[in-house]
Amino acid sequence: MNKNIMEYETVDLDDNDSSVVIIDQTKLPGTTEIIKLYTAQEIWDAIYLLKVRGAPAIGVAAAFGIYVLSKGIMKELQQAKDDCGKMDVLSFEEFYEKFKEQKEFLNSSRPTAVNLSWALNRMEAVCVKAGREEGKSVEEVVEILHQESIAIKEEDTWVCKTIGEFGLSLVKPGDGILTHCNAGQLATSKYGTATAPIYLGQERGYNFHVFADETRPLLQGARLTAYELHSSGVDVTLICDNMSAMVMKNGWVNAVFVGCDRVAANGDAANKIGTSVVAAVAKRYGVPFYVCAPTSTIDYNTPTGADIKIEQRPAAEVTEMWYRERMAPEGIKVFNPAFDVTDNELITAIVTEYGIARAPFKESLEEIRKKKEAVKE
Ligand code: MRU
Repeated sequence: MNKNIMEYETVDLDDNDSSVVIIDQTKLPGTTEIIKLYTAQEIWDAIYLLKVRGAPAIGVAAAFGIYVLSKGIMKELQQAKDDCGKMDVLSFEEFYEKFKEQKEFLNSSRPTAVNLSWALNRMEAVCVKAGREEGKSVEEVVEILHQESIAIKEEDTWVCKTIGEFGLSLVKPGDGILTHCNAGQLATSKYGTATAPIYLGQERGYNFHVFADETRPLLQGARLTAYELHSSGVDVTLICDNMSAMVMKNGWVNAVFVGCDRVAANGDAANKIGTSVVAAVAKRYGVPFYVCAPTSTIDYNTPTGADIKIEQRPAAEVTEMWYRERMAPEGIKVFNPAFDVTDNELITAIVTEYGIARAPFKESLEEIRKKKEAVKE
């Protein structure tokens, strides 16, 4: 019998053959293909081409990726030493030089989702602490990187579930919920962020009615969110992006939940292109607009949305991808930003795993940071 899409791991590690294991999301929902990534180029391509996508999932893939590559670096250094007949221990500094090169390479695959650099920086921090500050051997450092990558994935499940609990407190049984893009299980380790309240509500008999925006141009809403929710038995209706005003005006939506790729310190939030249109429409019709954000997505070093780098993607995604034949004139100019920034005044609240932040966001997000630090101590 076919396995339900919800039973697959979005991102996994196969330590036996040193690979990052993902579902190729470009083939969903038609084909469920599990692929293995071994090299830096394969991991980079998988992230850039959106085979693995969604801010938290990209972070997990990068963490497993840099661990797998670290194992490779260690083997390479060992081999070089053996070839010269040297007996001395591997040099941490030599290892770290190569680690940094691979880290920077992976980090260049997509610019907007801060979880990518967040996960890679976290991996680098444990690497430096163990190898340079504590004088551990390269073999021990690599094992510490292994444990850290697993922790990043495991924490993501807790983070999403906790966001789900907070999100659920904002809605009531029978509510209509609209979401944009895919901030679902396929974008995380489990539950998703924007979908976490929906899945928890589903387990508890809330009977939500969900509207999933199809999300042009890459159709993450149609291909992934509608697929996930439908496979889980959630009552979901797919709409084109230009229909959200009508469903809100009709009074069918009680809350909007979206994910995000980077939240600036002032609460401006970058998410999939079209999110800010949904926020403006929600404001017009008095529908609360909630951004679900793991704290790993909050970038306190980016003051406002204007400082967030927005990824530009190939024109073909707009002109021909998904069509049987090209749908736009040859030579037409195309603007294809992958994300837009929702101004903080359009956001009702930002739901994190450490609580719900409301305006003024600079202060409330600072409170969230303090709560997180207090728990870590
Ligand atoms: O280009 P994508 O598919 O990676 O964009 C994904 C989104 O915009 C998600 O909403 C965001 O990453 C949050 S995922 C929990």
